[in-house]
Formats: sequence, structure tokens, C-alpha cells
Amino acid sequence: MIGRIREFDEILKKETGRITDSRLLEAMEYSLLGGGKRIRPHLLYSVLAGYGKDLSLGDPFACAIEMVHTYSLIHDDLPAMDNDELRRGKPTNHVRFGEAAAILAGDALLTYAFEVCTHSSAPAEQIVRIVNLLAHGAGPDGMVLGQVYDTLEEKDADWAFLERTHALKTGQMFAVPLAAGAVLAERSEEEIQRWYRLGIRLGLAFQVQDDLLDVRSSAEELGKTNSDIRNNKTTGVTLLGEKRAEALMASLYQECDDALDQFGGFDPEELRSLIASTCIRSI
Ligand code: IPE
Ligand code: IPE
Ligand code: MG
Ligand code: MG
Ligand code: MG
Repeated sequence: MIGRIREFDEILKKETGRITDSRLLEAMEYSLLGGGKRIRPHLLYSVLAGYGKDLSLGDPFACAIEMVHTYSLIHDDLPAMDNDELRRGKPTNHVRFGEAAAILAGDALLTYAFEVCTHSSAPAEQIVRIVNLLAHGAGPDGMVLGQVYDTLEEKDADWAFLERTHALKTGQMFAVPLAAGAVLAERSEEEIQRWYRLGIRLGLAFQVQDDLLDVRSSAEELGKTNSDIRNNKTTGVTLLGEKRAEALMASLYQECDDALDQFGGFDPEELRSLIASTCIRSI
């Protein structure tokens, strides 16, 4: 399993290798390859592993989800959004290639992700189901709506508003890989939905932690500029204080760990260890 994540750049390159060589491809690969924790692909592979499925079944979808996630980071860093200059240990895409190229690289990664889904040899109904999950999770009722709340409407946010924002901007893209794994493992619709809900909670834990790391770690440690204070963001930390945010994060991760026992025929070992290592991450 860890091996598959270690090889994940090679798996991604098989997909980007089909694209005509250009400045656009250079900008796409600049952000996509050679960085990132690959947590979302890891989630998908962990569900497949837990159900005893062949991990390669997940490759196109893991790539597609990572492409959508990477596009969201490129656009999140733009001057009109968080205005950050460091990402995955390197200058952000717009700093390196210019704003227009960064916007287009994001557009291309988002669109290409859906083409990559169709490279799967899974049954057509499964591909359509996962395309639907990914489009819904990333789109106007998903991650993009969360980014709208985060960027445009967060003034005077209370915890209920912030929880909804986090669940959309981060939770959705944790829910999609878990649910996609369950689709590929031919689980029932009810079980797919349970995986989806678990992903939303896991993403919420992850975003509370991301906001904690933003105030606790340096840009060098994080490999990205910590901009929440500069941008006057309302976060779990500003609303609850560091201590309560930390306790909330720990209880959310615990809740997710506990929930793993409710899935019949599923060996939770891989996912449990991914959650445990994520819970104590420092980047
Ligand atoms: C960053 O996600 C954006 C958030 C949702 C907080 P990650 O922390 O997973 O970023 P990479 O993929 O490892 O760079
Ligand atoms: C971004 O949240 C979530 C996305 C959908 C990209 P943040 O703005 O907190 O992510 P970082 O801290 O820049 O990685
Ligand atoms: Mg942001
Ligand atoms: Mg940001
Ligand atoms: Mg952040």
C-alpha cells in the first residue's frame, strides 16, 4: 500500500504522458508531480485494500481525484483567493508561470480528471457513479461552494457556518475517494453513503488541523505560506481558540476511527493507520 503511494508519481505520469507537450503541460505537472501528501489517493486505495480488492482498479480515479485537488490548490493560491507564494515546497503556480497560465493549468487539470476516469476498465456503471460523485463533490454544491463561503462570505462566521464551509471545501474531497473505493468494491448504496459521511467528518478534522498548523508551523516546515492571519480568516482556531480546536480535532479523528468498525467484511487496518499518521502529522 505505502508502495503504491510511493509510486504514485509514476501512476500520474502515465496519465499526463498522454497530453501533448506544451507550456500548459509543464505548468500542470509542476504542481501535480513531486509533492503533496497524496492523502486522497491513499484513502481510496485503503478502502480497496480493506475490501481485499486489486489496488490497480483505483488508479485512474485516484489520479483524477488528485488532479481535482491540485487544481483546487492552484486556484486557492491565486492573488484573488488566498494570495500565497509557496506550495508543496515550491513557488506557487502563478508565481512560477504567471496568473493566466496558472488559471489555465487548473482548468486543464480539472477537465482532464474526468477524461482520466474514462480510462478505467471498470464496468461502465461504476465509472458513471464515480464521475457523478467527483463532479458533485468538487462542484457548485461541493468544494467550490465551500471555497465561495470561505473566500466571499465568511465575515462574522460562527462555528455552525465554519463547520459547513469546512465540510464543503475539504470534507467533500475526502468523501469522494472513500465512496469511490466502496463503489469499486461493489458495496451497497447505503454503505457508499456511509463512507461518504465518514469522509466529510474526516475532512472536517483535517481542516481544523490545517488551521492549527497554519498558526503553529513555519512556511518552511509546511512547504506552503501560512496566510490565514494575513487574510484575516475565520478558522477553528480564531473561533474556538487553539486548545478547544485541538480537542475538537482529536475527537473528530477518534470518531472516524471508531466508525471503521461498522463496515462489514472490511479490514480497517490500512485506513486506521492512515488516520493515525494523519492525526499526528506536522505538515
Ligand atoms: C491542503 O490539502 C488543502 C486543504 C484541504 C487543507 P493537503 O494538506 O492534503 O495538501 P497536499 O496535497 O498534501 O499538498
Ligand atoms: C483550501 O483550504 C481548501 C481547498 C479546497 C483548496 P486552505 O486555503 O486552508 O488550504 P491551504 O492552507 O492553502 O492548503
Ligand atoms: Mg483557502
Ligand atoms: Mg489556502
Ligand atoms: Mg490552510
